[in-house]
Amino acid sequence: MQQSKLDDLNARRKKAHLGGGEKRVESQHKRGKLTARERLVSFFDDGSFSELDTFVTHRSTDLGLEKQRFEGDAVVTGHGTVDGRQVFAYAQDFTVLGGSLSLVAAQKISKVMDHAMRMGAPIIGINDSGGARIQEGIDSLAGYGEIFKRNTLASGVVPQITIIAGPAAGGAVYSPALTDFIYMVEGIGQMYITGPDVVKAVTGEEVSHEDLGGAATHASRSGVAHFTAESEEACFADVRRLLSYLPSNNAESAPSSEPADSPDRADPSLRDVVPDAANQPYDVMDVITKVIDNGDFLPVHHNFAPNVVVGFARIDGRSIGIVANQANQMAGMLDIDASDKAARFVRFCDAFNIPIVTLVDVPGFMPGTQQEYGGLIRHGAKLLYAYVEATVPKITVILRKAYGGAYIVMGSKEMRTDVNLAWPGSEIAVMGPEGAINVIGRREIAEADDAEAKRAEMVADYRDQFANPYVAANRGYLDDVIDPAQTRPELVKALRMLESKVDSLPPKKHGNIPL
Ligand code: HXC
Repeated sequence: MQQSKLDDLNARRKKAHLGGGEKRVESQHKRGKLTARERLVSFFDDGSFSELDTFVTHRSTDLGLEKQRFEGDAVVTGHGTVDGRQVFAYAQDFTVLGGSLSLVAAQKISKVMDHAMRMGAPIIGINDSGGARIQEGIDSLAGYGEIFKRNTLASGVVPQITIIAGPAAGGAVYSPALTDFIYMVEGIGQMYITGPDVVKAVTGEEVSHEDLGGAATHASRSGVAHFTAESEEACFADVRRLLSYLPSNNAESAPSSEPADSPDRADPSLRDVVPDAANQPYDVMDVITKVIDNGDFLPVHHNFAPNVVVGFARIDGRSIGIVANQANQMAGMLDIDASDKAARFVRFCDAFNIPIVTLVDVPGFMPGTQQEYGGLIRHGAKLLYAYVEATVPKITVILRKAYGGAYIVMGSKEMRTDVNLAWPGSEIAVMGPEGAINVIGRREIAEADDAEAKRAEMVADYRDQFANPYVAANRGYLDDVIDPAQTRPELVKALRMLESKVDSLPPKKHGNIPL
């Protein structure tokens, strides 16, 4: 081989690695952002990133674009390992024409997505782009269409994770929205369908980029983002941690490792976490951290719909998903956002063979016109649908209240739950004692000489008869009533028993979840 040929290759690669050139790299750094290649090198295991399509260039000549040709175009793609496991990724390169999506950039992204599907490995997308490449017009839109199609077909086959580390505007937000999890980097990640100028022109509202589509907005108000991170490096570490709970594809079991915590560990302090009084708040995290391995919990959607907690953990070394009502937020009631949040999480776990543990303390669905007009019926139905449809091992533990429709939804026996347990202080009924007596005792109370004494007597009778777990246990709706201290060993036993579970759905094209 002539040395000149090698020199030429090296020079070409070096130029390609400069993306849009030194000035634009500098400007990217000044904005507090890494370049696309720096991002991928930092995300993957040391030295494991392998780039593809380094020399691809666009072929457009419209609007003077032939004078702006960069090797690799506006996206860097490739593969590498995360904790030794294969992962595919792409990172839009803002230094090249603002990371805008050309036809060839879309083809590069499509290629790594196709690889991820064929190899059964997760795909990570790092977004930092001005959207459709204006000069390429319809070709660029078709490129987006190709990506959306692949996002949809890959859904439930390989985990898809998005990192928003720059602008994501217009229809470009729909690729992230189709993926399983969205991370936003604080201060630099922004997502919106129409930016502040258009918002002002159309609605008259004045809003900043950050308030409209920043990390805090989407992680707490809209629920579009599942996670936020203070910096890109912190974000990459968080995504790597999430991947440790996930199988590489839907044909693999959820990851399992040597348990780092005793399977027999009883915890007597669990007897005192939940107050006896049905309306007293407590933090369900105190239950979650005591029953999982080493108290190590990864909350998903932490700042959105905090009245339900969802997230990943390990029990006995196996990945599990946890869904738990949070009694210290809106008394743990289910509302529209909580129903959506939990339903999507349950469906993710089911798609990727991750067993679901549900911890119940729910007074019901949230009353009010805002909720009814917003379609609480339709949103609550999603959660029901998700639980029934899920064929992974399902275990439910009732900690205190389980009333009415919310009792049924939260992994009751009829939702095809495998193991249903309750703590002895549980109240499982159509509604709470006071509410029930207001309905069925109205006439008797009105006719009594001492209405208040009558009400108190009827409430006490109801509580004795119905507000306990034993009616449900007598009928087999519960498999057992357990000492709270034994919750972890009971969960371990149940998960081991369910390891070989096989269940299915009736043959169909697909169901019609109430969207
Ligand atoms: C071509 C683009 C571009 C685009 C930016 N650039 N967006 N080139 N197509 N969509 C170029 C700029 O001309 C500039 O080139 C360089 O990228 C950096 O952009 P700046 O504007 O200087 O950067 P900044 O000030 O940081 O602003 C970033 C931005 C802004 C907010 C993203 O560029 C912007 O508003 N871009 C347009 C966004 C947009 O409307 N996109 C179309 C959305 S519709 P030079 O050579 O000067 O450095 C869409 C439809 C998708 O995407 C539909 C999918 C179904």
